[in-house]
This record gives sequence, C-alpha cells and structure tokens, in this order.
Amino acid sequence: MNGARIFLGVSGGIAAYKAAALTSTLVQRGALVDVVMTSEAERFVTPLTFASLTARPVYTSLWDTPERIPHIRLIREADVALVLPATANLIAKLAAGIADDLLTAALLAARIPRILAPAMNETMYEDAATKANLATLRARGYETVDPERGFLAEREFGVGRLAGEERILQALERTLARRRALRGKRVAITAGPTREAFDPVRFLSNASSGATGIELAREAALRGASVTLMLGPTLLEPPAGVDVVRVTTASELYDAALEHAAGADLTIATAAVSDWRPAERSDSKVKKSGEALTVALAPNPDVLAELGRRKGSGFLVGFAAETDHHEKRAREKLRAKHLDAIAVNDVAGERGFGPGHNALVLLWGDEGRRELGVADKTTLAARLLDAVEELMRCS
Ligand SMILES: Cc1cc2nc3c(=O)[nH]c(=O)nc-3n(C[C@H](O)[C@H](O)[C@H](O)COP(=O)(O)O)c2cc1C
Repeated sequence: MNGARIFLGVSGGIAAYKAAALTSTLVQRGALVDVVMTSEAERFVTPLTFASLTARPVYTSLWDTPERIPHIRLIREADVALVLPATANLIAKLAAGIADDLLTAALLAARIPRILAPAMNETMYEDAATKANLATLRARGYETVDPERGFLAEREFGVGRLAGEERILQALERTLARRRALRGKRVAITAGPTREAFDPVRFLSNASSGATGIELAREAALRGASVTLMLGPTLLEPPAGVDVVRVTTASELYDAALEHAAGADLTIATAAVSDWRPAERSDSKVKKSGEALTVALAPNPDVLAELGRRKGSGFLVGFAAETDHHEKRAREKLRAKHLDAIAVNDVAGERGFGPGHNALVLLWGDEGRRELGVADKTTLAARLLDAVEELMRCS
C-alpha cells in the first residue's frame, strides 16, 4: 500500500461513515488518497472529515475546482479506484454510462482498475435491476467486493451490509499487486481472424471475434504493461491505452507479429490465423456460372511456429482451439512450436468464439496444467495473466 495512489469515491449511503475509517487506515499504511464525494454523500459525512484525514483537497463537483478537467486528472494519476459505499443509484448510473457528476464522469474516464463496494438495504440489493447492473459492470471489468449478511440500518438482518474492512483492503492489495506485475514490460498480442480474399468481395475466414485477445490486451495494460495489439477484422472495439495494429491477411499478421514480438517480454498469440489462402486472387468479382467451382488453396505462413523459432528470452503463449482430443493436440503444438505455455479451448460446442463465456486450460512443460475455469472473457484474461506471470517468475 505504501506510495499507492487511491481514488476513493464516496456515494450517498449510510455506510459513508465507514469510508472515513478506511481512509484513516489507508493513510496510516502510506497510501495517497484522493476523495471524491457525490453531493448526496455530503449529507452523510462532510468533506472536512476526509480533508482532515488525508491532508488533501476533497472533490465534490465538476465545476467548483479551479482546474478545468479534474475528473480526468484525478483518475489518471491514481493506481486504483475504489467506490465505498457504492449506492444502488450510483451502480445504476455507471451501468448506463451516465456521467452527470464528478464521480461518475471520472469512473467513466478510468483506465485503471475499478472496485465497487456496494452497501444498501437487502431488497434494493436483491432487486433484479441492481443485480443486472452489477453483472453488466463486472462484465465490463469492474471488480466488486460483495456486501455481507448482518445488521442493516433499517434494524433488520439481511444481505447488504458493507463488506468488512479486511476484505476491502485485501481486494485493494490484490489489485495493486496485479497492477505492478507487468509495469515496464512489453507485451505483444495477436487477436481476431484473418481474411484471405478470393476476389474483391469474397474471402476465406473464420468465426473468431478477437474478444479473448482484446480482453488480454485490456488486462495487460491495466497491469502496467505497454501493449501492442495486432488485430484482425472485427466489429469489437479495442481497449483504450493500447497500441493497435490493424491487419487483414495472415501474411500481414506474420509481418506485424515478427516486428512487434521481437524484444517483447511476453507474446500471446490468440489470433485465429487462416491456414490457407486462395492460391489466386481475381481482381474482379468472379461471376456465377451455375457450374461447380474449384478453388486451389495455398498454405499461409505459420505465425506461431516462426514466433517460437525466434523467441529469444521472451515468454511465448499460444492458443489452441480444438474440437477433439484437446489437451493431447495442444501439448503436441506446445512442443512442436517451442511455446512456453498454451491455452486450450474447446470450440466444438457453443463456447470459444464470440464475446460470451469460455472455458480455458493452461498447459506448460511436460505435465504443467491449470484449469482456468468457465467464465466471461474478462475474468479469464485476468486468470490467464495471473498464471502466466507466475510461470514467467519461475522461468
Ligand atoms: C437515510 C438514508 C440512507 C440511505 N442509505 C442508502 C444506502 O445505504 N444505500 C443506497 O444504495 N442508497 C441509500 N440511500 C438512498 C441514496 O441516498 C439515494 O439513492 C441517493 O440518490 C444516492 O445518491 P448518489 O448515488 O449520487 O450518492 C439512503 C437514503 C437515505 C435518506
């Protein structure tokens, strides 16, 4: 915690007084805390309390500070943002992308990890709207420290009581440690499909969306790495704060990958590279004749094998999308292509491609194996990087 910069958002719930106690703990542990309060939070605790504890200005409005865009500066300078307590109202605004005060605007502009500690009446917490809003925010990368069962302000027992200070501190420590893990490291990631044109309007491709590589790039950037994402054609948006190199064909990806993986500390190859391309490309649209058409395919360069040959001291992780004998085939690929680790996913069923859930297993060496479980791709990206960082420390 020593030297960590923490953006502490306080919204208008009864538990706002606990934010003052936490601020005191954080300051005693050497953190620099910038407190931003909603106007409703000021009804529960005064800014003076936080200003006295932090010996720093406390921010309550987009408009009353002398600087022009305080929401951007505050959130950019911090290592992590924590909202405690997070009201049902604030959670709903964040899920909808509303930015009508300093706290919501800053959180929307954040590139740093964001943690929410919700606290509210049990019925508000169990309401379908709050549940859906929290699920939306988790899927977008927010972490939550879920409330506990206990005595609530309404003199009832139930779920909704702010998580205990120890759990909040652990979540902060975990996030800060992750954030430091890749600081100063260069990470190269390939993602998405490639397209191999047959004529100006038709091409050979596959169903990859690029979501896995995009989430890995986002997570690696959050952990402090400088990230280059080589991205094939996809409708998904690449994350902010990452250098994006757009590619279309396997040959373009091959050139980009060799350039950006050279000297990278970590390369992760998630792209679904087309193994073949039409041997010939027509400059004009091939006309329908009613007859069968035979298209000869030529092999594409093997991007992953070449990255393996040129690897040097960097750590190289491949991906295998298999429909059968997953782990056996993936281990063969791991050895044949000189990878340090390989993540295997099963694309036979509904999982694998697209932005939904996935199941991953990471393999390394002769017997190394870790199940990363079934989860959304944001969560899996964090688990994969946790495992890879451990392997990099041991290698
Ligand atoms: C006495 C009192 C206690 C409240 N406690 C909570 C609470 O614990 N959690 C919550 O989500 N809302 C609580 N509310 C409702 C919020 O204050 C209200 O939704 C407000 O608009 C939140 O504003 P903010 O999210 O901008 O801070 C409480 C309201 C009152 C009057």
